[in-house]
Amino acid sequence: MEGSTKLYVNNPAQSLSAGMIIRQKEPRNLESPFDRIESYLTPTELFYIRSHFPTPKLDRASYQLRIEGAVRRPFTLSYEELRSMRSETRVATLECAGNSRVFLVPQVQGAQWELGAVSNAEWTGVPLRALLERADLLEDACEIVLEGADRGTPKEEPLPPHPISYAWGLPRAKALQPEVLIAYQMNGRDLSPDHGFPVRAIVPGHYGMSSVKWLTRIQAVCEPFHGYWQTSDYAYWASMEGKPVRRALGEMKLKSEIARPGVYETLVPNRIYTVSGAAWAGETDVTEIAVSTDGGQTWAQAEFLDPVRRHAWRRWKFDWLTPEKPGQYTLLARAKDASGTLQPAEHDQNYGVYAINHSLPIEVFVDDSSGPRSQ
Ligand code: MTE
Repeated sequence: MEGSTKLYVNNPAQSLSAGMIIRQKEPRNLESPFDRIESYLTPTELFYIRSHFPTPKLDRASYQLRIEGAVRRPFTLSYEELRSMRSETRVATLECAGNSRVFLVPQVQGAQWELGAVSNAEWTGVPLRALLERADLLEDACEIVLEGADRGTPKEEPLPPHPISYAWGLPRAKALQPEVLIAYQMNGRDLSPDHGFPVRAIVPGHYGMSSVKWLTRIQAVCEPFHGYWQTSDYAYWASMEGKPVRRALGEMKLKSEIARPGVYETLVPNRIYTVSGAAWAGETDVTEIAVSTDGGQTWAQAEFLDPVRRHAWRRWKFDWLTPEKPGQYTLLARAKDASGTLQPAEHDQNYGVYAINHSLPIEVFVDDSSGPRSQ
């Protein structure tokens, strides 16, 4: 029947980009189609979205950013005042700490992110440091709490007694680094509502949860901020003299992911297939990338497509001559950083359902007996 065949016709003239994958409809949690992204900068409409509460409605005219707490000169900025300050533009990769959660066995709670809760964009804004200098930060301020305008009741136990806002306490040392931006543009355009319009924080090198969207308040504090998000939710077990202690997540861990081929893709035997992906790290540089096509028994160097740029991902490729022998093969990618650290083979259980940075197995078939599957 004509109508049913038309459903499967892919007419490039009708569509300019891939779509997003819905992990949760509302609040919006949309995954980037990692296997479809070709460009260094993720197009804004394909940049993953991770929101805990509905997107608040803010407008430029009434927007205010308050800088207060452990400072000598608290002040309030309007949107126009912020935009008139000296700005910087930086590329930074954001990865949600729960990215790749679907690879954990047995299955765990939380959004079932595959490979696409990570994206790379160019951000423009005012360094947080400039605002803290203007406010004259007190010497004993140890954290800077960034607070968004979104509010609601979160999900993870133990639950707070009342609705709360999204807030994250950034260690003083990181908050004063020049790369931390109070951003109003992404990829050269004003932020979209889902990505934090009109103003958000961008904390390069840290997991996405610290890049607070819809930012309305910056509060310096003299005691560690044990807010909900960094105790009940985005936390892990560190070790203090052999005893486990609960700490907030921070720096992103070294990681690479294979974008193509996809899980259970069927490849033609004895043909060059270009395996591709991206690799990134926190406060260090990714210097090497290797690929295994035999489940980790042997490794071969892959080739970077992008130069080293701290806090931004590097895409890579590897030309694989597929085996003649039909069968199932397991592909892995493994990054190495400037200090010689290798991406691990297993998930670190101290991180629970977060920081899933081990080499993720991509199983493929090599087989041409059945011909192309889509026909
Ligand atoms: N900021 C606010 N105000 N509310 C949120 O729910 N989510 C955080 C962070 N900032 C969040 C937030 C998380 S967990 C991530 S991973 C990033 O925003 C995602 O940013 P994006 O949606 O622009 O990709």
